[in-house]
Parts: sequence; structure tokens; C-alpha cells
Amino acid sequence: MMRAEQILWSIPLSTKVRSAVFPVAGRGTRFLPATKASPKEMLPVVDKPLIQYAVEEAIDAGATKLIFITGSSKRAIEDHFDSDPELEQALTESGKDDLLRSIRGIVPEGVACIYIRQGKPLGLGHAVLCARVAVGDEPFFVHLADDLIAGNPPCLTQMASEFARHGGSVIAVETVPKQDTSSYGIVSVDESGRITEIVEKPTPDKAPSNSAVVGRYLLAPEIFDKLETTGRGAGGEIQLTDAIADLLGESPVYAYSFSGKRFDCGSKLGYLKATVAYGLDHPDTGGAFRAHLRDILDD
Ligand code: UTP
Repeated sequence: MMRAEQILWSIPLSTKVRSAVFPVAGRGTRFLPATKASPKEMLPVVDKPLIQYAVEEAIDAGATKLIFITGSSKRAIEDHFDSDPELEQALTESGKDDLLRSIRGIVPEGVACIYIRQGKPLGLGHAVLCARVAVGDEPFFVHLADDLIAGNPPCLTQMASEFARHGGSVIAVETVPKQDTSSYGIVSVDESGRITEIVEKPTPDKAPSNSAVVGRYLLAPEIFDKLETTGRGAGGEIQLTDAIADLLGESPVYAYSFSGKRFDCGSKLGYLKATVAYGLDHPDTGGAFRAHLRDILDD
């Protein structure tokens, strides 16, 4: 078996992370009926869909290959990142330059969008495996758009710096209340921050800690071999967590406590909290929205 130090040699510390994988093939059942015909990742927070925040974060971190793992009802995502000459023409003719810039600059030149269909929603691990052909033999980001993180610098950029420091895989974690461990992958780490154990959705009595994995990963390509052999785990799905557990003995994986505020936009309450926070922060809405919230709270 290959030792961790040998694998570290195979990932030069200067390696730039070029690929970002966006698994968007989930069913989004917690948001039905809103997600019946339209993907959860197209839910807007103020004026941008969740997937656009995700793409902007990946581009900020240096990604130039954006790989979307799509399922049924995901055409809206492809359309969102495609150009729309008719709309551009209409905005040009009506002199709406700000709006024109807002739709033109979403995917800058030099950045490619790749769409891969996940035939059946067999789980997050399976979705990530579908990206193998596009990622190749390089480290890559995985970004779950429904975990919206307000961070400065953005979370993936923080993780890319962490990766540049030690060259191992990096997983974003956050401390959660003990009673919530069954909603997350839970890790334990050694004194260097290296993960020693990872378990998918343990009940609080079985959880090794309350350090929870959130939707940002920077993974060594060795994860693909692990995913090939990962069977169905929690919920009958092929779990990314289980493949990471298999990787731990061979390649270092570090837990990273990011700086920033996370909103779980896959849940109704988290989505509402995000809308309020981003609405208060937005230059077009902030002042009036704050006044409005004060009015309702005073009633
Ligand atoms: P979730 O666990 O949030 O599942 O998936 P979901 O189906 O999107 O939402 P609910 O729980 O039914 O409301 C975590 C991430 O993995 C993706 C989802 O799109 C989401 O970004 N995913 C999940 C896939 O791409 N494929 C799958 O087979 C499963």
C-alpha cells in the first residue's frame, strides 16, 4: 500500500486547482413544490441564483473548468450560464447597461462550463464520480451550492491557500450542536488537523465529535478510485463520506474551519436566513429592507 508521504510527492504544492465540480442532480425534496420543475440551485437569494454564487466562488479560487453534474429538470442551469443574444440586444437598445453587464459577466472568458448527466440520483459520491472524465488526474474542488457561505476571502479561496500549505485534501468543517450530528458527515482530527475518522450522519451517541462537514471539498484525484468501489451507505446512497473514509489511511485529508457564515439553503429556514442576511447587505435593498424589518418587529 502506498504511504501518505509518497502520495504527497505526487501532488506538487504549486498545483493550481483548475476544476470545480458542482453536483446539482439531487431531487431537492425538502423544497417541494418549488423544486418540482426547477432545480434547487436556481433558487435566488436576492437577485442571483444559488448556483451563480457557487460559480463566482470557484472562479475567485482560480477554477477555470466548471463541471456541473446534472439530473432531470436541470436545463435552467445550462441556460443561466449560456449567452442570451436576444436579451442582450433588448437591454442594449433600452440602455440598461448595468443589467447588461450583470448577465454578460457571469462566466468570464477562459472559463469553460461542462455538463455531465448523472443518469440516476444514486448519491453525492456517485455524482462526484461522474466528474472523473472531466477532472482527470488533478486535485479538484467540490462545491455544494445549497451551502451558501459568506466569507472574505470566499471559502474555496481559503481552502486553496490551505492546500498550497500542505498539499493534502481539505474539507471544510463547522461545529454544530450535538443533537444535529445526524444531519452531517462528522469528523475527528489529530493535533495537526488531519482527519482520523469520518462518519456519515451518526446519531449523537455515536458521533466521534460535533465537527461537521459542510459543502466545500478540495480532493486529491485518488478519491475517484475509492468511489469506484464504495457501495451504498447511509440512506441507500453512494456516499462521498464513505469514499473519504477509505482515503484516510493512504492520503492525508485535513479538516478546515473556514472563516465566514454558512447558510443551509437546502432547508427552508436556512434559505430565509440567507435571504435576510444578503438582502440587508445588498446595496439596492439594504437600507429600505432594514427599515422594513424594524417596522415589522416593532408591530
Ligand atoms: P442533498 O442531501 O441535499 O439532497 O444532496 P437533495 O436531493 O439535493 O435535497 P433533499 O435532501 O432531497 O431536499 C447534497 C448535494 O448532492 C447533490 C445535490 O444536488 C446536493 O447539491 N446530489 C445528491 C447529486 O448531485 N446527486 C445525487 O444523487 C444526490
